[in-house]
Amino acid sequence: MIAVKSFPAQDRRMKVLGIESSCDETGVAVYDTHIGGAAGLRAHAVYSQIALHAEYGGVVPELASRDHVRKLLPLIRQTLAEAGLGMGDIDGVAYTAGPGLVGALLVGAGVARSLAWALDVPAIGVHHMEGHLLAPLIEDDAPQPPFVALLVSGGHTQLVAVDAIGQYRLLGETLDDAAGEAFDKTAKMMGLPYPGGPQLAKLAESGTPGVFKFSRPMTDRPGLDFSFSGLKTQVLLAWKGSDQSAQTRADIARGFEDAVVDTLAIKCARALDAAGCGTLIVAGGVGANKRLRAKLTEMCERRGGRACFPRPALCTDNGAMIAYAGALRLVAGQHEDATIRAVPRWDMAELPLV
Ligand code: KG4
Ligand code: ZN
Repeated sequence: MIAVKSFPAQDRRMKVLGIESSCDETGVAVYDTHIGGAAGLRAHAVYSQIALHAEYGGVVPELASRDHVRKLLPLIRQTLAEAGLGMGDIDGVAYTAGPGLVGALLVGAGVARSLAWALDVPAIGVHHMEGHLLAPLIEDDAPQPPFVALLVSGGHTQLVAVDAIGQYRLLGETLDDAAGEAFDKTAKMMGLPYPGGPQLAKLAESGTPGVFKFSRPMTDRPGLDFSFSGLKTQVLLAWKGSDQSAQTRADIARGFEDAVVDTLAIKCARALDAAGCGTLIVAGGVGANKRLRAKLTEMCERRGGRACFPRPALCTDNGAMIAYAGALRLVAGQHEDATIRAVPRWDMAELPLV
């Protein structure tokens, strides 16, 4: 649990440095709570390690850690310069404490904690998925809880009832592959380079809907859990039994994307019913998917509600969401003892209320 301490009210307008290093992206941002809204994001920069891991077909944890070591300090300098700030202007530091790759997390946590120590400012370890979940709230005209959140990333697919910031009830989650993982594995099976999710989505744009029809897993029974691994097998069989032409690949990609998007939309509608809510927020890398954004927007509007997304760059891993989530907690007077925290597995339900 986070040790909650309080600090004086005059400190509660803060410029918070956010550091994300849980996987293969180094993200840094400054969020200024005095400005607030989207303009409060004074600067943010992401360095992606995609090229480094591409030849291995997936993230190599040790290489990821070493690259964070190389890139983090230059990225912090660059981001502060873009924000027109000096190191001494920072009032608090937020870093991803977990979940994620332990070595990668340790790099961000070590740098963040050391900076906070040197600057004598408070620091806080942020839950990566809470960061994703709160990213839509950075945008202007953001909704306030209660709402339902769909978290769709490479490691998670969860439906969460958000009663208040920091108060999260898990409504459903994937029993096997995450939605992003299913995109990546399916893309790999059809020979697309790593990371396949965005490439598969691009390919699906030139595919014809309905040529390949895959199932909408677990929608034929009640419940809010997901399962995407069977879908992957269906695609594999379809691909192996096909002529494997460029058009067929695009048609299969379209069939797969439609199946995932429909499944997510069906479960989101059910989750809104279960929570008695009209507002859905969507976050995580798969939230950048255009067809998913269109489908969920239409579904929510048809119900008289609203679907909210961060801009695509804030769907995938970034420092802005960590700066923002950390700023909410720091401003509320929460910060930690001078310990470096890296928690590879961490349940969001354990978080304290803001
Ligand atoms: O949130 P994120 O950047 O990292 C994790 O915390 O996992 O999500 C990355 C995931 C990857 O699986 C990637 O393939 C998927 O998000 N993704 C997409 C799209 N952009 C990223 N999946 C489908 N369509 C996209 N446009
Ligand atoms: Zn993520």
